[in-house]
Amino acid sequence: MIREDLANLWYQAIFSRYSVRAYERKTVPRDFREEIESLLNGFSPMCNGARAVLLEDGAEEILCGFWGIFGKIRGADMLLVLIGETSHPNYEVAVGFLGEGIILHATSQGLGTCWVAGTYSRRMVEARVNLGDSEKIMAVSPIGFAQVSGTDMEGKSVQAPRVIHRRKPLQSIMRGLPVEDFPAGYLEMLEAARLAPSAINRQPWRFMVEPDGITVSAAGFELLPMTARRLDCGIAMLHLEVAARAHGIHGEWKYITEPPAVAKYVVLP
Ligand SMILES: Cc1cc2nc3c(=O)[nH]c(=O)nc-3n(C[C@H](O)[C@H](O)[C@H](O)COP(=O)(O)O)c2cc1C
Repeated sequence: MIREDLANLWYQAIFSRYSVRAYERKTVPRDFREEIESLLNGFSPMCNGARAVLLEDGAEEILCGFWGIFGKIRGADMLLVLIGETSHPNYEVAVGFLGEGIILHATSQGLGTCWVAGTYSRRMVEARVNLGDSEKIMAVSPIGFAQVSGTDMEGKSVQAPRVIHRRKPLQSIMRGLPVEDFPAGYLEMLEAARLAPSAINRQPWRFMVEPDGITVSAAGFELLPMTARRLDCGIAMLHLEVAARAHGIHGEWKYITEPPAVAKYVVLP
């Protein structure tokens, strides 16, 4: 279960987080760094199967913009590396859960982040991190101060984006109980999960709402492979539990072994 003080902090961050791709060339103060370091090995049993490492230099070279859609990520001070223990049955979900907790924590300290699973050099990260036999690098995130406004290195003017979360409407991603019959807090939990970031913003999750809890499933008919969809579901699950805890709801995750269902958040009386 996520600690309540962290959940309250992270719940606010859900609404202010966005993918930051332009950073001030400014060093992250040591106490901020230590805050992040305290979470690298997990903050809940749901993180089992994942770990993270913080690289204090080299972020810019590792983050290449060869996909072109978003352009190169510039100026970040540090790089968070998210590692999955592939022998663990739910490692993708664990990486999503762990990574998003760290990302929301960084957001709550005024830092910018951006999940990156495609536009980085995995080879360069592998050269910097000691991996166990069945460990795999799953994603990275720059961490630093978002560039608010001004000019970038090429002299182009940069404006901080307003936080706009382009997401599917809730009705299109949920089934089960109608909204008017939701127990207290369920709408907030689903709304928080809906705002989760996902690879190419595919939002590959679906929610089954029942009186005793909410089941998260990976959406079918998506272009993303199942590994990526399960990682994204782990991110949405972190948001869902954070909102539950911030609204005084206690529950626990139960993994489901029949895909595409991933896990059910069972609310405790
Ligand atoms: C697992 C994952 C992988 C991602 N990979 C990339 C990437 O390779 N490059 C990139 O620029 N953004 C990447 N993103 C950021 C998404 O494009 C972004 O989260 C999504 O468009 C929603 O926008 P928002 O984060 O501003 O709310 C990734 C996000 C997730 C969750």
